Amino acid sequence: MADFEHVFDAPPEGAAADWTIGQDWASYTPVEHQTWDTLYARQMQILPGRASDAFLNGLKALDLNAGGIPDFEVINPKLKALTGWTVVCVPGLVPDAVFFDHLANRRFPSGQFIRKPDQLDYLQEPDIFHDVFGHVPMLTDPDFADYMEAYGKGGQRAAGLGVLPQLARLYWYTVEFGLMESPDGLRIYGAGIVSSATESVFALDDPSPNRIGFDLERVMRTLYRIDDFQQVYFIIPSIEALKAETLRDFGPIYERLQGASDIPVEAVLAGDDVRTRGTQTYAARGGRFAA
Ligand code: PHE
Ligand code: FE
Repeated sequence: MADFEHVFDAPPEGAAADWTIGQDWASYTPVEHQTWDTLYARQMQILPGRASDAFLNGLKALDLNAGGIPDFEVINPKLKALTGWTVVCVPGLVPDAVFFDHLANRRFPSGQFIRKPDQLDYLQEPDIFHDVFGHVPMLTDPDFADYMEAYGKGGQRAAGLGVLPQLARLYWYTVEFGLMESPDGLRIYGAGIVSSATESVFALDDPSPNRIGFDLERVMRTLYRIDDFQQVYFIIPSIEALKAETLRDFGPIYERLQGASDIPVEAVLAGDDVRTRGTQTYAARGGRFAA
């Protein structure tokens, strides 16, 4: 999930110059395919009525439950026909510039491995379940597809301006942990939420976290946690609205942000459009490390 960190400085043995590797679908074991099926079935008990239509429609369109880990050679033609995106495999977290170049060219980099059966609920690095189940369905939505490409290009620009931490927060609070409005109430669309059985419930139902209407500059100033449930979620009105808001020139915003202080995860500010004033009880009790 932390797409802005990396382990290697150059493509490791066996990876291409753009860091891609083959998926080698035939190499997955029956246990690994079973892990996918187990995780998929579990999420489908939870997500109807919680996940956004864009996500649920994308799942259906790509038929990600055909049995076991999806074969990229099967899903890529469908995804490409819908929005021009493809999924490629990478050996782990890749450098920022590589990540942005893939997004800017409508390629989503995915881990090749799947978590072990004793890690169903939590793992530190994104695996193929997080990347493909969590991220890829949203890429079937034309506006989200445009947003992700624009993000890649925006990342290349932000890197040059020294404002990557600010831009990374936008990714975190939308692509990974975003909530959106729907006529029937709040829905989740962030990949970090929809791929997690526990956070899929926590993000919508728990009284602990703050839930605040999306504000671009507010989000870009807000710190985030990578090791536990979020303490704040931001709500977009719609994917179209997110796209419209982010297509404008960030130059003046980056300038204003230079002098602005970072906002702690649990803060509620005077100008916030607060939908839930969280109790922060979960975090106060020690989060996932609570006794
Ligand atoms: N509009 C942003 C810029 O001018 C680029 C961007 C688009 C960033 C969409 C994120 C998402 O830099
Ligand atoms: Fe992710």
